[in-house]
Amino acid sequence: MKVLVTGGCGFLGSHVCEFYARKGDEVISYDNMTKHELERTGFAAEEARNYNWDYLKSLGVKMVKADVRNLEQLLDHCEGCDYIVHTAAQPAMTISWEDPLLDVTTNVIGTFNVLEAARKLKIPVACCATVHVYGNKINETLKEGDKRYIREPEGIDEKHPTLEGTLTPLHASKAAGDIYVKTFIDTYKLEAASFRLTGIYGTRQFGGEDHGWVANFSIRSVLGWPLTIFGTGKQVRDIIYATDVCEAFDAFYRTRKPGIYNIGGGPATAISLLECIDILEEINGKRPEVRFAPDRHGDLRYFICNIDKAKQQLNWTPKIMPREGIEKLIDWIKDNKHVLIKEEK
Ligand SMILES: NC(=O)c1ccc[n+]([C@@H]2O[C@H](COP(=O)([O-])OP(=O)(O)OC[C@H]3O[C@@H](n4cnc5c(N)ncnc54)[C@H](O)[C@@H]3O)[C@@H](O)[C@H]2O)c1
Repeated sequence: MKVLVTGGCGFLGSHVCEFYARKGDEVISYDNMTKHELERTGFAAEEARNYNWDYLKSLGVKMVKADVRNLEQLLDHCEGCDYIVHTAAQPAMTISWEDPLLDVTTNVIGTFNVLEAARKLKIPVACCATVHVYGNKINETLKEGDKRYIREPEGIDEKHPTLEGTLTPLHASKAAGDIYVKTFIDTYKLEAASFRLTGIYGTRQFGGEDHGWVANFSIRSVLGWPLTIFGTGKQVRDIIYATDVCEAFDAFYRTRKPGIYNIGGGPATAISLLECIDILEEINGKRPEVRFAPDRHGDLRYFICNIDKAKQQLNWTPKIMPREGIEKLIDWIKDNKHVLIKEEK
């Protein structure tokens, strides 16, 4: 089959491209190669930006530099495809405060265009939302445990109210994309899914301070750089390894049950930031240097997905537990330090 992956040179998109390329499918990576986020990470932005492009090219993926905000271009490249996986996005909360126009055009117009291309060409499509669509009112009902915040009941399902609490432009734009997916399903019977994703981590993730925290902590711990925790460090997420998300995309393609799905690791993979630091200490044999800073506007202190709907409807279940996934990530970081450290000029 032929698969087009928007944001194919990003972290998650590159895993989706690899997943299908290794199955022998024809894969197109469709990405505008933005450096907005990479330039803020302190890593070597140019090398990091080209890393996934070169890697995917070596796997035989067709590389296209183009923008999801351009419907004509999308239609051209989607023609003849069997499946679209839409991972292109402006995913960072901080950038959404600073450049709300970039955020809304990328996340709302971009997602709309992808759905429109899928509708016109009659192609099934899976899109990426985020658990941020639930807002952060969940913060108000937490108890403080020793190393993590605690909430009863643990898992939050798709019926939970959305957009509660303090919102940022990212909440609005990602929720709008999620609503558009439902709208295209309801109005045009489009075979579409919106995945409300929790914290994803894995190899080839150039994690910054507000998007990709597991990778950010892991990279800093290997490089011996101090890392910053915003808040108490008791924030909890059911983290999910990238290849488990690829399996979920493929499960949707095979089962074709349109809808909105929480895609996370569920209670089994939930860890707090402090617990992640403990795992890094175990793996590296050295505790990273941790600095604390105040909570940021819009931060979510707790999220554990209830993934029963995806398990039942898509016949999918995540497999990789945090310790195993973080070890894979650390191995990749150790082999690729040169991509992460800026050369002194
Ligand atoms: N990484 C996580 O922990 C996480 C958590 C929840 C949801 N998500 C969602 O998953 C998706 C993928 O996230 P990621 O971590 O891989 O992000 P990423 O930033 O690594 O990748 C996004 C890719 O999209 C590309 N892109 C941006 N604007 C574009 C445009 N206008 N046209 C074409 N390409 C464009 C970028 O160049 C980048 O390569 C996003 O929708 C994100 O909101 C990610």
